Amino acid sequence: VASVAQAAVVEYTFNVGNLSISQLCQQEMIITAVNGQLPGPTIVATEGDTVVVHMVNESPYNMTIHWHGIFQRGTPWADGPAMVTQCPVHPGGNYTYRYNVTGQEGTLWWHSHISFLRATVYGALIIKPRGGTKAYPFPKPDEEEVVVLGEWWKDNVNELHVNATETGVPARHADAYTINGKPGDFYGCSDPNQTHKFELKQNKTYMLRIINAALNTPLFFKVANHSFTVVAADACYTKPYNTDVVVISPGQTVDALLVPDTGVAAMGGRYYMAVIPYDSAVNNDQPDRLYSLTNGTAIVDYTGGEATSTPMLPDMPKYNDTATAHRFLSNLTALVPNRVPLAVDTHMFVTAGMGDTFCGPEQTRCMPNPPINGTIFASSMNNASFILPKTTSMLEAMYRGSIAGVYTRDFPDTPPIVFDYTADEIEMNKTLKHTLKSTKVKTLKYNQTVQMVLQNTRFVSKESHPMHLHGFNFFVLAQGFGNYDETTDTAKFNLVDPQERNTVAVPTGGWAVIRFVADNPGMWFMHCHFDAHLDFGLGMVFEVQNGPTPETSLPPPPSDLPQC
Ligand code: C2O
Repeated sequence: VASVAQAAVVEYTFNVGNLSISQLCQQEMIITAVNGQLPGPTIVATEGDTVVVHMVNESPYNMTIHWHGIFQRGTPWADGPAMVTQCPVHPGGNYTYRYNVTGQEGTLWWHSHISFLRATVYGALIIKPRGGTKAYPFPKPDEEEVVVLGEWWKDNVNELHVNATETGVPARHADAYTINGKPGDFYGCSDPNQTHKFELKQNKTYMLRIINAALNTPLFFKVANHSFTVVAADACYTKPYNTDVVVISPGQTVDALLVPDTGVAAMGGRYYMAVIPYDSAVNNDQPDRLYSLTNGTAIVDYTGGEATSTPMLPDMPKYNDTATAHRFLSNLTALVPNRVPLAVDTHMFVTAGMGDTFCGPEQTRCMPNPPINGTIFASSMNNASFILPKTTSMLEAMYRGSIAGVYTRDFPDTPPIVFDYTADEIEMNKTLKHTLKSTKVKTLKYNQTVQMVLQNTRFVSKESHPMHLHGFNFFVLAQGFGNYDETTDTAKFNLVDPQERNTVAVPTGGWAVIRFVADNPGMWFMHCHFDAHLDFGLGMVFEVQNGPTPETSLPPPPSDLPQC
């Protein structure tokens, strides 16, 4: 009988503070980082463990940390989004996050959940199976490597965020894409110390735990002369899926076995691992490219650091290759049939996209500054542009039963006017473009099954919004392009082995249908994981009510919960 390790408490201290680095031809710059590391420390736990993280805020900014993909059952106060589940930790303050990782295993991650600070405050969160790596439902790899994809910004990202929200002008895109915090060899002033190297051994097998921590950029990921067998996404096992390219949106994770082409393992050598943006906004009716197209790279080295040969670059997909993105994202399925709830209690149809806010006579609702021409750039879901409350967190308001002035319970189940993706711009403007700022929640009874059709709009541009739900995984039943059509598209639902995720990249100019069971009381943010879009209101919150027992009810807040 194999002995199974007892559940343990794994404890970390996160000192969030200044880190000085030189990047992209700039001399020195101060960024915010955890324990002086970029990416921050990797948390490693085993299924069933309790994770305790003491966060000490030595940075000059208000700070929170979110544990992306952790259900937080019974610990809603540890979820981390500022003003949704907690007031931020002020400079000089601290807060201890405490949660268990029961019923979850795989690759997740953590990041700051305030302003744009997650640009540099992020790291991996790995949950191993209780039975050890031999319990993997795929051939056990000899070794594992964490691959955290990110961005470099030449600006102070907190200022970028403040400028964007004050002026209503979206922040520009990143200056470089990084692998494990380093941009690689193809940007100006490349420094050999700023290329991450994976030292691999010939004839050993490797699993990559890939995380997209970039603020705003979906990425294509490849390794020259290698392909992949995907075995999990968002910490949910998938049927083995063979591909030469991984497509990953901000918020998503992919676990993949690295498969060398015939001859590579025997020959050894050096190869580039590379990322390039999938610029989902670019298509025929919107030709402007938003992102830099320089490859972020790392080196995969089988030579023990001996060889000096120039590595080969993989052949990357074109930046607007939606067909490749869609093939990858829609072909994943769950490893084993999962229990998809068949009866739906709450049906929602939600438009998500960019547009502008109409301030009209209510200029004060264009927060924080009324614009000159009466409108300001905004994003919305069902025409409601989300803003965070200012004085108390939503979860505290819910817990105390005093929500006035904090949020309202009128998030609409459908858009104000039936949405038609094919309507011309003028018609669409009438139906959806002008939106007001608000803090609306959708209230759910405990244990309700929710189905949500997420329909991308196309104001400003069509784009693949990575929609992330806190507190739950959901099943992705179907995805498609154009208008979602209730009468024909329900036939496309996969109710047997749909992929289970916490972040779905809604196809650009299309839709995705998700389903989940609201069996976790609390305040759960759902939002676009492009921070530039979240800034402008592309979010909403589910308020899940208490169940019948103390165990299924909101616990009291921990005594060190920060005050606003
Ligand atoms: Cu990974 Cu609300 O975010």
